[in-house]
Amino acid sequence: MEALIAVLPGDGIGPEVTREATRVLDAIAARGAHRFEFKTARVGGAAIDASGSAFPDDTRALVAEADAVLLGAVGGPKWSAPDAPVRPEQGLLDLRAAMNVYANLRPVKTRPVLYPASPLRPEYLENVDIMVVRELTGGIYFGDRSRTEDAAMDVCTYTRPEIERVVRMAANLARDRRGKVTSVDKANVLDTSRLWRSITDELFASEFDDLELETLLVDAAAMHLLTRPADFDVIVTENMFGDILTDEASMLCGSLGMLPSASLNEHRKGLYEPIHGSAPDIAGRGIANPCGAILSVALLLRYTFGLNDEAEAIETAVYAALEAGYRTADVAGPDGKACNTVAMGDAIIAVLMNHG
Ligand code: IPM
Ligand code: MN
Repeated sequence: MEALIAVLPGDGIGPEVTREATRVLDAIAARGAHRFEFKTARVGGAAIDASGSAFPDDTRALVAEADAVLLGAVGGPKWSAPDAPVRPEQGLLDLRAAMNVYANLRPVKTRPVLYPASPLRPEYLENVDIMVVRELTGGIYFGDRSRTEDAAMDVCTYTRPEIERVVRMAANLARDRRGKVTSVDKANVLDTSRLWRSITDELFASEFDDLELETLLVDAAAMHLLTRPADFDVIVTENMFGDILTDEASMLCGSLGMLPSASLNEHRKGLYEPIHGSAPDIAGRGIANPCGAILSVALLLRYTFGLNDEAEAIETAVYAALEAGYRTADVAGPDGKACNTVAMGDAIIAVLMNHG
């Protein structure tokens, strides 16, 4: 297989973690069967500095040409003034919209080696294996907004097709898992949520009556994620609820730095990115956790190219390296010993190269 991957490192720790992720893809290529060509372009603050736009035309063109997109992170204090005319985050939203990647898959699977890094007691972490499907191109992120000196407005809109396609994606994923979907909304307050709930109920009564549907209000879901995380299989929810709940859920896995994501459209041309941000506080120090980015390229191989064995080899290598004692500071063991970003990448690549 030969593929062109657009690499958009972005800001802060983005370049540091995407470098390790592309090295892992190089290691997969070195095993023989596949070739990956990487082309890099700017997005976010780096793009604003270079061109004034957070998602410039040359980046848009590269994304259109590529088979898949790997992104690091965007944002930082340099571009965050309250009156900034253009913000890095808008570049990421424009990219998601341009690719029409309406379903953002965020797997949350606990592993014993990282139980000590989680603030929850181990008995809560056993058998946690959740696939959060976050709607990614609608809702309050993309609605009309306005601002005057003393008032501001953000509109949340959802349409039937937007809800149907993401709920279908979640239900189809559940069919290949444990057959349960939890739909999270705020139907006791929001009309968008009442529409979401009635469409979800309809779909499960007609197309997906072989699956179990559970419905939760988002405030309760936030609590249940901590009190009974192992009960969840697939969670489907709207854009902002999914953003918030997955930062929470990441702590089941020990760190925000561990979680990957795959954003998919109907053509499987995906956008892959760790769920963490640009972490300006540690940027440039070489200590960021590259696992979220590396696990994102595993998702890239699985969902865009159907290379399940290669995806699993990367996932196995990440946890083998952690078990061998390689940890970045965010997931360091009780002895506090931590390695840097490149050493973590090296350890994962060494496992990959040594065990087929
Ligand atoms: C994420 C991030 C983004 C989001 C920001 C950077 C716009 O938090 O990917 O979760 O809110 O979607
Ligand atoms: Mn987020």
